[in-house]
Amino acid sequence: MASDDGSVGRNDDCPCGSGLKYKRCCMNKAKEGANNDLAELYLRNYRIKLKTAHDIAGIKIAGRLVVDTLHKVEEIVKPGITTNDINRFVHDYTVKNGAVPAPLNYRGFPKSVCTSVNEVICHGIPSDRVLKEGDIVNVDVTSILNGYYADANMTFFVGECGSDAHKIVDVARESLKRGLGMVKPDNTIGDIGWAIQEYAEGVGCSVVREFIGHGIGKVFHEPPDVPHFGRRGSGITMVPGMVFTVEPMVNIGKRFLRVLEDEWTAVTRDGSLSAQFEQTIVVTEYGYESLTPYDL
Ligand code: MF3
Ligand code: CO
Ligand code: CO
Repeated sequence: MASDDGSVGRNDDCPCGSGLKYKRCCMNKAKEGANNDLAELYLRNYRIKLKTAHDIAGIKIAGRLVVDTLHKVEEIVKPGITTNDINRFVHDYTVKNGAVPAPLNYRGFPKSVCTSVNEVICHGIPSDRVLKEGDIVNVDVTSILNGYYADANMTFFVGECGSDAHKIVDVARESLKRGLGMVKPDNTIGDIGWAIQEYAEGVGCSVVREFIGHGIGKVFHEPPDVPHFGRRGSGITMVPGMVFTVEPMVNIGKRFLRVLEDEWTAVTRDGSLSAQFEQTIVVTEYGYESLTPYDL
């Protein structure tokens, strides 16, 4: 029955012309209102899947395991262990907790975690390489738990390290912090990269361009792309429910890289040290929440 005010009643024919009753057709869509329209818009225009509260809860649970894993890796990193030891620990701990290590067999990647030492920028393959005093090592953990991915990494010191190692690790950590500081609705994805590049280059370091942050959820890498360089105000406007990583790779020398024969290991062209920190975050109403939270 149509209401006195002319609005559509639940048992009326749906105004969309489907021939169904309103309650069986567009009534629920109308209730969800603007958010639903935004989700459709972002999917159609950018192929970005905005996440539901249910999705976010799932990614957060996976994220808790990822951070827990990283903190446990931190305890075993010391001179004398190999990157294979890190791989074995991450693999076993992930599986023991009911999760799957996402890197294993991902596009042919042969191990369960990436371990990137010194001049290795990212995608280092665990091996018999022994870590020695003064090395830095990035450990990048991605776990799949109940179908949801979470992705985070940290760079660790191996024993006592020199001043260049301390500088690049500090700059990488601060780069992630500054990038995340730009995350809020109505800012753009470009603002994140702008803040990172401005800071890192301002202190004499360089930012890698070939590898970028990414959307994540029920798949490892999905839109949007999140470059760690670029112009203020460029790119897609952030809205609540977007989930993506920010993961700046910062070099103490020049930004250029080369990929080794194994087709994975990316190293700085000039052999200079490189460091990285990564978290998975969700854009919220007023800012962001990390789904892989650790102190920066
Ligand atoms: N964890 C990396 C990222 O941050 C991706 C690693 S892909 C792998 O996106 F195959 F090398 F594991
Ligand atoms: Co990532
Ligand atoms: Co990662």
